[in-house]
Amino acid sequence: MLGVLIVAATFAGSCAFSPASLGMAPLNHWHVLSFAGGLDRTKPHKFRVGELPLVTWFENATGNPTTTLDVCRHMGSRLHHGRVENGCLVCPYHGLKHGSKQAFGETKEFEGKIWWSHTPKHARPPSSPFFKNKRYASSTVQVDMEASLMDSVYNVMDITHPQYVHSGPAGFGSDIPPSDVVTHVYPAMRNETIGLSFVYSAEGTFAHLDPGVKRSRNFHMLHYPGSSWSRVTMPNGRNLFVAVDLLPIGRDRTRWFVTLRHNYLTSPPGRWLINTAARCILEQDRQQMAKQTPSSLVKALAIFNAEMPFEKHFTEMRLMFKNWRYLDQNTVERMVFEYFRSSY
Ligand code: FES
Ligand SMILES: [Fe+2]
Repeated sequence: MLGVLIVAATFAGSCAFSPASLGMAPLNHWHVLSFAGGLDRTKPHKFRVGELPLVTWFENATGNPTTTLDVCRHMGSRLHHGRVENGCLVCPYHGLKHGSKQAFGETKEFEGKIWWSHTPKHARPPSSPFFKNKRYASSTVQVDMEASLMDSVYNVMDITHPQYVHSGPAGFGSDIPPSDVVTHVYPAMRNETIGLSFVYSAEGTFAHLDPGVKRSRNFHMLHYPGSSWSRVTMPNGRNLFVAVDLLPIGRDRTRWFVTLRHNYLTSPPGRWLINTAARCILEQDRQQMAKQTPSSLVKALAIFNAEMPFEKHFTEMRLMFKNWRYLDQNTVERMVFEYFRSSY
């Protein structure tokens, strides 16, 4: 019953815009736009959060990022075709300059990523463990999945699918069920953070990477709406972290920014090995995500009428996400209306 009520409220909210939803929860949280490494900081970059077109540029090579609408307020040129001059974004059409006064929302560079929020509730984006620890090697993978943010969120917190989606030598899934599965709810951060701990017996690639150590203690952490990390701890003190930050770039399209961090196999070939294994596993997820039903009322009504073991945390997650909305065209129009109304 609770499920049907949540679904009905969510779907009703996504159909009709109400001014109150300008303060809708996702806009108050940080969204990852990009990895910072490899980004050409001398040029503007286009991004989108749902249907919201954005352009981000940097003051200078080491300076802060600023984001505005990717629509020039003069005659509508796409600003990402412009250039950066003295810290301003210059429109390619008639040279109008955009500076920090024209910022749309707040942009931050944090832990190797560029983040954006319309009106951030928290001063900082979510932190991921061991970011600065020199004993850990890091690498990244970026994948676009043909599935909604919600499908992606459920996937990263789902411990049943590895047996089916990640089975075989290129995966890690095993038919030994997880054990000691515990959902962690943090009263002070309820509706924003949820944790899940369990013991897992891996097969396939990751079992071969670390022969003799099949059982790992795992911890998954999800920060609303789209930042997660998983820690796989093996008895010999080896840790693997997989942070997945999610950006909705379409109603049924989500960009996954994956950061791998590990204190074993830290040499360049070892890092390559872990990164390649992760790419294989993400490809298995990508194939499953492409099989997900696109968002619809039929889907919203159908899902979670069946429950499998180890899914208690999904009930908490569904409450966490009850105000989550895809940033659709109606909402974007209202946001832009409010933005220009308050600018004059
Ligand atoms: S359209 Fe941008 S300056 Fe005219
Ligand atoms: Fe997966």
